[in-house]
Amino acid sequence: MTVGTRSAHWRDLPRLAALERQAHPLDAWSDTAWWAELASPRREYRVAVPDAGAPPGGDLLGYAGLDHGGSTADVMTITVAPEARGQGLGRRLLQELVAAARAGGAEALLLEVRADNAPALALYDRVGFDHLSTRRDYYRGEDGPVDAHILRLLLPAGPAPTPDEKAAEVAR
Ligand SMILES: CC(C)(COP(=O)(O)OP(=O)(O)OC[C@H]1O[C@@H](n2cnc3c(N)ncnc32)[C@H](O)[C@@H]1OP(=O)(O)O)[C@@H](O)C(=O)NCCC(=O)NCCS
Repeated sequence: MTVGTRSAHWRDLPRLAALERQAHPLDAWSDTAWWAELASPRREYRVAVPDAGAPPGGDLLGYAGLDHGGSTADVMTITVAPEARGQGLGRRLLQELVAAARAGGAEALLLEVRADNAPALALYDRVGFDHLSTRRDYYRGEDGPVDAHILRLLLPAGPAPTPDEKAAEVAR
């Protein structure tokens, strides 16, 4: 079995929703919200699977979603299953969103992240995102309000894609 990534399929929905509930127990998207996400023509979802050859609907190791919004695209969500973290899957999924945003004509990719989410901040830093702005006390935390950081990756037109982006394009 080889770990792989591919576009999300509606048959993945039960596993997507289950992984979401496991990773985000306090604010998981509902099944209805997932249906709407997968059905929207603006959205593009990628999933990581333990067996690249398996048909849609089986085990998932992670997922990531993009909103195509014209010149600016947004990362909707990115999650790797707890047991699969630290092995490069988050970076791989994020690079695929970067490649998809670029392919869709976006000039910038934006995302929002909790200021106390160290693993996510490390991932975004590694991939090249810069801090754009901060929404003070945007989230509720166990010890009080938590800021939200808005991060941005510029996607200038012209230059050849990075090796990571090229690999992501080939994998699509
Ligand atoms: C954030 C998340 C997607 C990262 O996924 P992952 O597969 O573990 O990340 P990767 O293994 O691809 O790591 C990518 C980079 O981030 C860094 N990183 C990842 N987790 C880290 C951690 N816990 N502490 C420090 N750095 C970390 C890695 O060092 C790596 O950099 P490197 O390649 O230069 O070493 C994962 O932790 C997750 O699903 N968290 C819960 C959901 C979440 O918070 N999503 C983001 C919402 S904004």
